[in-house]
Amino acid sequence: MEIQQNKSLKKYNTFGIEAKAKYFCEIRSIDELSQALQQSQHPNKICFGGGSNMLITQDIDALVLHINIKGIEIVSETKERVQLKVNAGENWHQFVLWTLAQDYGGLENMSLIPGNTGTAPIQNIGAYGVELKDTFVSCEAMHIATQKMRTFSKEACEFGYRDSYFKNEGKGNFIITSVTFSLSKNKHTLNTSYGAIEAELEKQNIKDPTIQDISKAVISIRKQKLPDPSKLGNSGSFFKNPVVSKQQFISFYEKHPTAPFYKISEDLYKIPAGWLIEKCGFKGKRFGDAGVHKNQALVLVNYGTATGAEILKLSQTIIESVNDKFGIRILPEVNLIK
Ligand code: EPU
Repeated sequence: MEIQQNKSLKKYNTFGIEAKAKYFCEIRSIDELSQALQQSQHPNKICFGGGSNMLITQDIDALVLHINIKGIEIVSETKERVQLKVNAGENWHQFVLWTLAQDYGGLENMSLIPGNTGTAPIQNIGAYGVELKDTFVSCEAMHIATQKMRTFSKEACEFGYRDSYFKNEGKGNFIITSVTFSLSKNKHTLNTSYGAIEAELEKQNIKDPTIQDISKAVISIRKQKLPDPSKLGNSGSFFKNPVVSKQQFISFYEKHPTAPFYKISEDLYKIPAGWLIEKCGFKGKRFGDAGVHKNQALVLVNYGTATGAEILKLSQTIIESVNDKFGIRILPEVNLIK
């Protein structure tokens, strides 16, 4: 285990922000993670996975641990289902493609989400009507203070919309080292109800889709709407879609009857932040090298040399503007690394 100094983090965050870590260490096994966490000369430690859901706002005066533990293992199997244990450093989309090549179903709607498998449970990643929790069995995590391993069941993870135990009580206390999924081997349950998927399958004239067809449709939709981080730095949705009470929703909807919305329960409604931001006039706007994507206003982009502070400032301007216009306070979905 080698500790490097003044390491550029540009290639470790999908925003492509140029910032330095005072100390940096690549972690390839649970033993290395345990050793690194015991480095008492570096009391401040920050964990990086795929770097796809964070904004680094300044140089990091700490030891950055880059979790790069690889490996996929079949832990159990029946005629109908397979359980896979996937180590935290596996790239999410490569893993999804691997499951599709084996004809394992369940993850196809979440194709092309950037990031690594180990960080996927933290925000319960989701897309096109499916969330990670739908196929999740358990995860293993190391307790940072004691280096003891703990297994978290689905219930213990307390998953919610872009939310989990690891973003709340567990925040800063655990590092996820592997995730176990249960996938179907046949009679796959397809989830094509999401409008954009139906439309894409129709466009391609596919009437009886396979899980591979759904993955291809999702990839095609995402490529049209979302920028490729290897070409234009970004962190996917920068904001969460706000969830408001029925009362708040009714008064909002009276004034904005064309707004899209999702009813979550009798009393809760979700309003797409992308719509709110677009209506405030930010879609496609550029301020220096920081900007709002032209096809999806939820996504902030780095045109090259934007600093984390500049992107953060733009996000704050957007939050204020949406609040002034709609009386709704949107919140960042990405982790702000300060
Ligand atoms: N909309 C606008 N303007 C925009 C963007 C969206 O008016 O600039 C409207 C759309 O027309 C649509 C509605 O907002 O009526 C919802 O848009 P979309 O279906 O694109 O989804 P989203 O709510 O913006 C969420 C996730 C995405 C995920 C998609 C598809 C969040 C914060 N984001 O976006 O996740 O891919 O649904 O399921 O929940 C990510 O987390 O990085 C991410 C991309």
